[in-house]
Amino acid sequence: MKQIIITVILCATALVALRIAAPKQECNSNVIEAIYARRSIRQYTDCAVEREKLMEVARAGIAAPNAMNRQAWAVRIVDSKEWIDACTAAFVPTIEGTPFGEHLLTADFKNMFRNAPAVIFVAAEPSVYAGVDCGILGQNMMLAAYQLGLGTCCLGSPVGFMNSEAGAKFLADLNLPEGYQLQYAIAIGYADEAPEAKPRDESKISFVE
Ligand SMILES: Cc1cc2nc3c(=O)[nH]c(=O)nc-3n(C[C@H](O)[C@H](O)[C@H](O)COP(=O)(O)O)c2cc1C
Repeated sequence: MKQIIITVILCATALVALRIAAPKQECNSNVIEAIYARRSIRQYTDCAVEREKLMEVARAGIAAPNAMNRQAWAVRIVDSKEWIDACTAAFVPTIEGTPFGEHLLTADFKNMFRNAPAVIFVAAEPSVYAGVDCGILGQNMMLAAYQLGLGTCCLGSPVGFMNSEAGAKFLADLNLPEGYQLQYAIAIGYADEAPEAKPRDESKISFVE
C-alpha cells in the first residue's frame, strides 16, 4: 500500500513538473474552426434567445482590442418582438416598390433584421479609430455567438433607415450617447438554415518581400 502511495505521489510530482517545464504550445483550434464555420444567417427559428447568452455575446464584444482602451463604442441589445415588429412596420413602406424591397420582402419575410428574434446595434463615438474598434467588436460578438450555438448576420442596411426621418423614433429608442453614429446591427438567433461558405479571394493576400 505504502509503495502504491509513493508511486502515485512521484507520478503526480513528475506530471506537475512537466507541465511547468513544457512551453505552452497548444493550438486553440476552436477559434480557427469558429472563424471558418461561421456563416451569415438570414433565417431564424422563432425561439427567443436567452438574455444570459445575449449578454455573454455583448461581453465578448467589448473584450475586443480597441484603440487606447478608449472603448469608443455603444452596444444596444433589442429582444423585444414588439419593438422589432414596429421598426419593421415603419421600414417596409420605405422599400416597397424598390429593387431592394423585392429582394428583401420574400414570402418568408418576418422582419427587417433578416428575420432574427433579436438584434444588437453598435454605434461609434466620433473619434478616429472608433469605426475600426466597432468592427473588431462585431467579429468578437459573431464568433462568441457561434460558440454559443447562435447564428448571426452583420447588417449595414438598417443604418440608413434608422438615420432617416422614418426611423428617427427607433434610433432615439437606442438612447445613444451624444454624437455617436450607428455603424451596423447584428441579427442574432437560432439558425433555421445552414448556408454554404461563400468563396474568398486569396489573391487579396500577398507577402511583401
Ligand atoms: C459591414 C457589413 C454589412 C453587411 N450588411 C448586410 C446587409 O445589410 N444584409 C445582409 O443580408 N448581409 C449583410 N452583410 C453580410 C455579408 O453579406 C456577408 O458577411 C458576406 O456575404 C459573406 O458571407 P458570410 O458572412 O456568410 O461569410 C454585411 C456584412 C458586413 C460586414
